[in-house]
Amino acid sequence: MPKIRIGLIGYGGIGRVHAAAYRAIPFHYGLPADSIAIAGVATTRRETADQASREIGCDFSSDDYRALLARDDIDAVDICTPNNSHHEIVLAAAAAGKHIYCEKPLAMNVAEAEAMAQAVKDADVKAQLTFNFRFFPAIARAKQLLKAGFVGRVFSFRGRYHRASYISSDKPMSWRLKREATGGGALFDLGSHILDLLYYLLGDFSAVNATLDTLIERRPVAPGSSETAPVDVDDIAFMHARLPDGTLGTVEISRMGTGATNDLSFEIFGDKGALRFDLGEPAWLHVYDTRDADSPLGGERGFRKIEAAGRYAGQRAPDWTMSPDFMRVHAECQYQFIRAVWKDEPPSPSFADGLHIQRIMEAAERSSVNGRWVTLE
Ligand SMILES: NC(=O)c1ccc[n+]([C@@H]2O[C@H](COP(=O)([O-])OP(=O)(O)OC[C@H]3O[C@@H](n4cnc5c(N)ncnc54)[C@H](O)[C@@H]3O)[C@@H](O)[C@H]2O)c1
Repeated sequence: MPKIRIGLIGYGGIGRVHAAAYRAIPFHYGLPADSIAIAGVATTRRETADQASREIGCDFSSDDYRALLARDDIDAVDICTPNNSHHEIVLAAAAAGKHIYCEKPLAMNVAEAEAMAQAVKDADVKAQLTFNFRFFPAIARAKQLLKAGFVGRVFSFRGRYHRASYISSDKPMSWRLKREATGGGALFDLGSHILDLLYYLLGDFSAVNATLDTLIERRPVAPGSSETAPVDVDDIAFMHARLPDGTLGTVEISRMGTGATNDLSFEIFGDKGALRFDLGEPAWLHVYDTRDADSPLGGERGFRKIEAAGRYAGQRAPDWTMSPDFMRVHAECQYQFIRAVWKDEPPSPSFADGLHIQRIMEAAERSSVNGRWVTLE
């Protein structure tokens, strides 16, 4: 059985998510627990690196990612650092002969990205980017249907990724608001995801016509500070895009979408059918088929929901009928139990809750047997 030892570089918001996901993979696919291990972690500071190694349960931590690259027991690095460090770390990792898994966006600009693509090719290492939204089963089904000609000639497409993450002018400066650290604003951060999905499903864009805007031009330098600093990246990016065959689409990207928690969606309209995906309902791909029978009262036409649910090829657990969030819900349920033990508090849902449900179920059985209402105490 092959094994892989990963060096995790960066352990902020997404680093933790990657670490948890590596631990889950053996359970999903029935692999030995030691087939995938995080062998070391690096951040920018000794304390955060040590804290990370304690959370992950790995023996090695460093405040210099080069220390990970120097280790023989690391096969691959996972880069979860701000965008302005991806180029340097990828080049160093490729030179060290490590395989590379890197967060999006790949780079600060095309010149950097070209050098990185060349470096991993020259070093002959495996290199993958984290365009994670591709991996919803509904997206795989959409790709399959498009390939099979389900929508026919694509008339137009529409993608959007709106979040409300920056609507408060009190939200302070961070690396995501500085071009020197991020390369671009909402366009790079959120846009890279929805643009990748459209590219994955429909192929290359041949031309774009976009307008970017910054709606809050200065922000506090720190939480609660009256001192402000300029924001030099976009908050919104709206664009028209064309595919090489002339097909026209629109893409809306915004961090200023009031009320939009994580509003990623797309529609693809064709002469035979249409597809819709909404991240709020990731278990379903919505499809419309013009070949469905029509009649004066509507026949059978209309958008239908295909149950993509959790259909991952080769997955052992959970079974495919479970929603994509099923594992997370179990983790939360278990965490609430463990926290109650640690804090010496009553856990919930309790055995009293279980007893109540038991009474309802038993009453339902008695009611069915006797053919009458059963009153619950
Ligand atoms: N795919 C997704 O859904 C998704 C979601 C969030 C973030 N991201 C991407 O992940 C990356 C990190 O984002 P985040 O939100 O986790 O950032 P963050 O600010 O929460 O964490 C960044 C981490 O990187 C470390 N770091 C910074 N420079 C480093 C260096 N030179 N060497 C070692 N460690 C370094 C910091 O110490 C910190 O641990 C960004 O590229 C971002 O675009 C992707």
